[in-house]
Amino acid sequence: MSKITVPPFKSVSVPAIRDKKRSGEKVVMVTAYDFPSAKACDQAGADLILVGDSLGMVVQGNEDTLSVTLEEMIYHTSMVARAARRALVVSDMPFLTYHTDETESVRNCGRCIKEGKAQAVKVEGGAKRASLVRTLVNNEIPVMGHIGLTPQSIHSLGGFKVQGKDEESARMLLEDALALEDAGAFSVVLECMPSEVASKITASVKIPTIGIGSGPHCDGQVLVFHDLLGISDPPHPRFVKKYKNLRDEMVEGLCQFAKEVRKGVYPSEEQSYHLQKDPRGEEKERTK
Ligand code: KIV
Repeated sequence: MSKITVPPFKSVSVPAIRDKKRSGEKVVMVTAYDFPSAKACDQAGADLILVGDSLGMVVQGNEDTLSVTLEEMIYHTSMVARAARRALVVSDMPFLTYHTDETESVRNCGRCIKEGKAQAVKVEGGAKRASLVRTLVNNEIPVMGHIGLTPQSIHSLGGFKVQGKDEESARMLLEDALALEDAGAFSVVLECMPSEVASKITASVKIPTIGIGSGPHCDGQVLVFHDLLGISDPPHPRFVKKYKNLRDEMVEGLCQFAKEVRKGVYPSEEQSYHLQKDPRGEEKERTK
């Protein structure tokens, strides 16, 4: 196995994410949904860990993200937050938890901070969310925006489609980004839009843009954990780059286990306890 270089510990704050735009340092965000995956992201030096509602698809096996609940998001966020030593944890607000009434929305977002222990929340939508974003920020809840292909709007958008392909819709995306910036969002995800559009937005706002399927000119990039490590099922969108093929490795390991159990090879003496050899019957404490 190759030697892993773990970046030095330094916890990332909301102002530090903002500062990266000024310094020109790229922002790295990865999704994670549980303790071990978040620990891996943190050790790899991700700046932000997004507990995405994509968990509805890659963890729960649903067709879309719409059925994820607030309780599930708090549960997954709390696992991720326990693992994150360095990265800033962002909880993705599920469908219909921030759409109806602002007081209720603040309470729901606040639960992800108080109970889930996230440091920020993400909400989908541009100008139409500006009032809510302002209220959340006024209530000390840092907000990440999300525009372009917003998966919670797939029924209105007619599916998972690239957005901002014509002049008018590209102009509206720019207005959305500016509205979110003005409302106090500390960063904004740009999902599935032409590189040229993302580049223009990135040059027009002072907050970092974090791209997914939006080309190389954003201030940072995000990918879904299960996609980039080759755990999720194909087909994947064109923007996904697979850095590992863990699905095959997992199946291979599990096949090996099944084979050894069936042949009586596992457990061997090495994995067995004996009265005489281990009189105290104690196990070494598991290290996390
Ligand atoms: O839910 C999610 O994982 C997301 C990212 C893809 C930005 O919203």
